[in-house]
Amino acid sequence: MKKVIVVGSLNFDIAVYTPRFSTPGESVLGNSVVLGVGGKGSNQATAAHRSGAETVMIGQVGRDFMAELLHKHYLEEGMSERYITVTDKAETGSGVIEIDPSGQNSIIVVKGANGTLSDIEVMKAADEFRSADVVLTQLETGFSSIEKAKELAQENGIPFIINPAPHQPVPEGLFDGVDYLTPNETECEYFSGIRVTDETSAEAAAEKLLEKGAKNVIITLGKSGVYYAGQKGCMMVPTTDLKSVDSTGAGDAFNGAFAVAVSEGMEIETALKFANCVASLSVTRYGASKAMPYRAESEKLLKDYYGITL
Ligand code: RIB
Repeated sequence: MKKVIVVGSLNFDIAVYTPRFSTPGESVLGNSVVLGVGGKGSNQATAAHRSGAETVMIGQVGRDFMAELLHKHYLEEGMSERYITVTDKAETGSGVIEIDPSGQNSIIVVKGANGTLSDIEVMKAADEFRSADVVLTQLETGFSSIEKAKELAQENGIPFIINPAPHQPVPEGLFDGVDYLTPNETECEYFSGIRVTDETSAEAAAEKLLEKGAKNVIITLGKSGVYYAGQKGCMMVPTTDLKSVDSTGAGDAFNGAFAVAVSEGMEIETALKFANCVASLSVTRYGASKAMPYRAESEKLLKDYYGITL
């Protein structure tokens, strides 16, 4: 079994299913509200775990009722909490999510305890990096935790992935030398200055991100699939036509699964297709972490849709 390290966020999600998104100053009557386990890091870790990897989650929560829900999730999944520290200095991170009937979402994230995850907590897990096969990070934790994860991954010769979400100003040089940078369209536009509307603009945007030092760039484009540019050339990989009911965590499903694919040494095109399948299945279900599919389902879709058997 391959080992995936995720340095990332754990959030308490408040998902509101609404007939339409609210506009500033407006109150909209929603349909329902569901409390669940989220956070880009934890969603990605769950996707990796259910995709068949030994997953080491490095993160931080507060000492509150929100952390209890997360704890229950880790127990039920059989995922280790050894490197999930508890701080008294901040509340557990949270996500307030609106989801419309087409499955689209808009999210407000409060970093909380995730924001105080630092290089110190990552360093405590340094031994894990010696036997890891890939390291995956996002932008919901303290920057020093991401920088330390990158340093340890590079010292140990392990592929290092940054999913640059949510977009925000980042320290100079953060993307330099990363093996895979995986923005969605919005993040891609923020970091490259180029709006992606088709393959030509995707190519131009990816070029800008490669100039920032990333070795490979993968732009996730929702229903349009993904665009890859980097050491293996460039390609557009379409995704499946499964119907979405809730797109929350689709990018996380993609990233967690892609990390597993990298850890298993899959060819880039197969890796992208495998990750597309995991993301596609996740949007057919409600919720974030709980919507992540299991390996057998993803492999079946990979065979049915792309004709690939692993
Ligand atoms: O990517 C979806 C996630 O973003 C949600 O679970 C929310 O917690 C935010 O981190």
